[in-house]
Amino acid sequence: MTEPGPPGEKRVPAHRRPGRGGKILSVWHISQKAYEGVRMSQQPVVAVLGLGAMGHAFAANLLKKGFTVRGWNRTRAKGEDLCRAGLTLADSAAGAVEGADVVIAMLADGDTTRQTLQAASDALKQGATLAQMGTIGVDATDALIAELQQRRPDVLYIDAPVSGTKAPAENAQILVLASGDRDRAQAAEQVFAAIGKGTQWLGEAGASSRMKLVVNSWLIGLMQSLAESTRLAEAFGFSTADLWQVLDGGPLAVPYAKMKLDMIAGGDFTPQMHLLWALKDAKLALDAAGDTRLPALENIAEVWQQAVDAGYGEQDLAAVYAYLKR
Ligand SMILES: NC(=O)c1ccc[n+]([C@@H]2O[C@H](COP(=O)([O-])OP(=O)(O)OC[C@H]3O[C@@H](n4cnc5c(N)ncnc54)[C@H](OP(=O)(O)O)[C@@H]3O)[C@@H](O)[C@H]2O)c1
Repeated sequence: MTEPGPPGEKRVPAHRRPGRGGKILSVWHISQKAYEGVRMSQQPVVAVLGLGAMGHAFAANLLKKGFTVRGWNRTRAKGEDLCRAGLTLADSAAGAVEGADVVIAMLADGDTTRQTLQAASDALKQGATLAQMGTIGVDATDALIAELQQRRPDVLYIDAPVSGTKAPAENAQILVLASGDRDRAQAAEQVFAAIGKGTQWLGEAGASSRMKLVVNSWLIGLMQSLAESTRLAEAFGFSTADLWQVLDGGPLAVPYAKMKLDMIAGGDFTPQMHLLWALKDAKLALDAAGDTRLPALENIAEVWQQAVDAGYGEQDLAAVYAYLKR
């Protein structure tokens, strides 16, 4: 979102502005300062529940952009570094949401999100916005919407899962998939603009959690296919570099595949997205699919469950390659 200029401001011509080291503050500088003050006071107060890989990045970007941010994480230590940047770290989710205009929930799964929000719902500010940004699937999303409608009908629920992983989140380059009452979502949009590169609105609340499963089923298929193709290439005596050189520059050279090939080549599976959470998403998609046949996703979920059982769950999902190779 482009920052508007100071309201009613006329730029002072360059020849009337002070040069480097000039002592006189121009009209522009004074009103720019005043404008910044107004802008900051108009920013919503944000609470972030869940300071894992993604929630931590969201909170850090909001702090960088001058928002007042309150946070809570089950493991308090994960949020402590952000206190130096101005985060107010609460001991409970209820404590974190008090006074917040926008509450972000970025927790592992549906059960955790529902339990946390049940505990915090009475403490939500009147008329606050709740942006649920984790990948929690269709059933938990629909249940949350109904629960909130019953307990706190004044609160605006925005279903807002994200596309993009840890590094894009750290660089405010995620895409927010939003659904819900956009006409009332100005505060949420300010927050989304600070943590991402764009927001795609998809309709009624719940639509974006459905689209998120579509996106992740594509990502999961891509990852499994890449891991298997790499194993086949190796069996024929090719390296990952050979494989990428053939793909590079053509329509098959998906940037995501390059990132994952680099992980495979370096043997570094530091999680951008935990294999465990990717498996959760595969199961959420299968659960929500109804009569739609997804045989490849079913097989992948079985293989990834075996990989998780073998101890790969806390690594990046690219570790399925290492599981296939062992
Ligand atoms: N990483 C990605 O690429 C990515 C991209 C898009 C969406 N997502 C989704 O975003 C969500 C968060 O992902 P993440 O990568 O940030 O995961 P993460 O780093 O594992 O963080 C998970 C968060 O959930 C909390 N949590 C887990 N179990 C809990 C429990 N029983 N009670 C209270 N808190 C609990 C964790 O607290 P502790 O620190 O105490 O464990 C942490 O704050 C997931 O739904 C994931 O699928 C992830």
